Amino acid sequence: MSGWVLLLGASSSIARATANAFAARGYKLCLAGRDVDELERDATDLRIRFDIETCHREFDADRMETHQPFFSEVQLLPGGIEGVVLAVGYLGDSRSSRNNPHLQRVLLTNFVGPAAILALCADYLEARRGGFIVGISSVAGDRGRQSNYVYGAAKGGLSIYLQGLRNRLFPSDVAVLDVKPGFVDTAMTYGLPGLFLVASPAYVGERIVRAVLSRRDVIYTPWFWRYIMLIIRNVPEKVFKRLRL
Ligand SMILES: NC(=O)c1ccc[n+]([C@@H]2O[C@H](COP(=O)([O-])OP(=O)(O)OC[C@H]3O[C@@H](n4cnc5c(N)ncnc54)[C@H](OP(=O)(O)O)[C@@H]3O)[C@@H](O)[C@H]2O)c1
Repeated sequence: MSGWVLLLGASSSIARATANAFAARGYKLCLAGRDVDELERDATDLRIRFDIETCHREFDADRMETHQPFFSEVQLLPGGIEGVVLAVGYLGDSRSSRNNPHLQRVLLTNFVGPAAILALCADYLEARRGGFIVGISSVAGDRGRQSNYVYGAAKGGLSIYLQGLRNRLFPSDVAVLDVKPGFVDTAMTYGLPGLFLVASPAYVGERIVRAVLSRRDVIYTPWFWRYIMLIIRNVPEKVFKRLRL
């Protein structure tokens, strides 16, 4: 490994666990997010515990005018950026996000902002001719359901975007991994009713790093969500539209 791993939305529980799993393997980590004080504490903690180089930067996915200056600065880190993990996400309230202003926020934070920053990362890694991009999408993007279709549409859009990037970047030896978690025990899902088969962030973080190292394209995590979603995707629409999901 020569360069840095840039974590976008680094204060997220899944990103933190992923950072730990990369740190345990000796990677240099740049933590980017909105709460710089928290990121500074995390960066210091990782540096001391794992004896690795770390840094932290302010990053807001919603403020797209800041993306270019942000990325122009981080790409100057010694050795450059080797990989990017995008963990930014916002679930919102399923009922209020059906309409504006929440609808716009859910689409912006989960799709438009991520697509805009990953576009810059993709250009950079394509020119570097190597590296990886990880986008944390969701099983919610696999089929629209009445309980969360705005968030699901944004995540489904992100998955399609990652698929297109993978196809574009393959000749440049840049791997693009789409991570589709089921339910994970994080701030995002805290107190939500009806959760089942809930995974720990540590489990998901370790799976993400293993998938990066084995150059996987798409992972469901935990693994059984691949089969749950296979069934859900194959329920005929005539039946599916009558279900209360
Ligand atoms: N938990 C689950 O069950 C689950 C399932 C499927 C997919 N996911 C996805 O996994 C990813 C990580 O989520 P998590 O579960 O670890 O929840 P989390 O701890 O709530 O993390 C969400 C992260 O997104 C960041 N964020 C929100 N808006 C942002 C913005 N405009 N710019 C930069 N950062 C922003 C938050 O930062 P602040 O601290 O600044 O708000 C926070 O670090 C998300 O993409 C989520 O959609 C989670």
